[in-house]
Amino acid sequence: MIENFKTEIDLGLSSTTKKLPSKYFYNKKGDALFVEIMNLPEYYLTRSEFDIFKNKTQDLIQHLGLEKNTFFELIELGAGDGTKTKQLLKSLSKENYSFNYLPIDISHNALSLLKKDLQNSLPKVLVHTQQGDYFEVLASLKQSNHPKVVLFLGSNIGNMEDAVAAKFLKNLAANLQTNDTLLLGVDLIKAKEIILPAYNDSKGVTAQFNLNLLQRINDELGGNFNLDDFDHAPEYNEREGIAKSYIVSNRSQTVHITATGNTYHFNKGEKIHTEISRKYNDALLQEIIKDSDLHIQTKIVDSKQYFADYILKKQ
Ligand SMILES: C[S@@+](CC[C@H](N)C(=O)[O-])C[C@H]1O[C@@H](n2cnc3c(N)ncnc32)[C@H](O)[C@@H]1O
Repeated sequence: MIENFKTEIDLGLSSTTKKLPSKYFYNKKGDALFVEIMNLPEYYLTRSEFDIFKNKTQDLIQHLGLEKNTFFELIELGAGDGTKTKQLLKSLSKENYSFNYLPIDISHNALSLLKKDLQNSLPKVLVHTQQGDYFEVLASLKQSNHPKVVLFLGSNIGNMEDAVAAKFLKNLAANLQTNDTLLLGVDLIKAKEIILPAYNDSKGVTAQFNLNLLQRINDELGGNFNLDDFDHAPEYNEREGIAKSYIVSNRSQTVHITATGNTYHFNKGEKIHTEISRKYNDALLQEIIKDSDLHIQTKIVDSKQYFADYILKKQ
């Protein structure tokens, strides 16, 4: 992990347009900041998807084709704190469905908190956590022949460029069996006035979350970033339907990272791209699944129609 971290950071900071992978946001501090973000008034995404999970649980269960007498594996990619999933787990457990819950996350800390939480709140649910990068664990899904339901929530898919998302879904589908399902949560295209504040809250928590990536480089790779010399700068392009987060250098400066042995120069105003959050509509979703064996079964939206959970079936 540390070797990959070092290599990817060096590569990203050495390229002409500087970038850092968003998966490295999630250390202990980043996990806690993201939980704070989910509760912010501006961050509508979690509330919208929670609305679906809380108020349309039976629709989800029905469209996922779950049956009480057939054991299945409920696999979640990038589970985080599982706030929304717990609504579904609660119903499945109460109604005596037979299943195991298998959350996968890159953050060891997030998984151990989630496991502890579920042991207390839903002791009947069998939980097997797997720490790893979801790009690298898909092949392991083939290890069992049980029917599978895969959850990929929170519009995490939107953190991938379209071509990467299409390849990821194709690969995911190739590791599933016929009739397995994917519950894919995506944020829908809407006005800039609603979307941009979700990445630029008034309390500055998202700014802290973004800049924590530099702190993590300081802590784990011996960097000497001064966080005061950098600002959080989100953008939303309404035509493309894509929000992008940047860290901007507010002065001309150089930063040294001991682990890479390199020094990086930043011009005043130079941007480091840290995250993409693509927004979707039906056509854009069709585009990223068209090369996979996944077909849309149904789409469930929240009461404000901000967010959609698509249920896709492997053919
Ligand atoms: C934005 S949070 C969303 C959490 C949850 N899915 C939700 O909807 O509330 C992203 C989660 O995905 C995890 N994650 C990000 N990139 C990952 C990767 N490449 N592989 C595995 N987990 C990843 C993070 O650790 C974090 O828990």
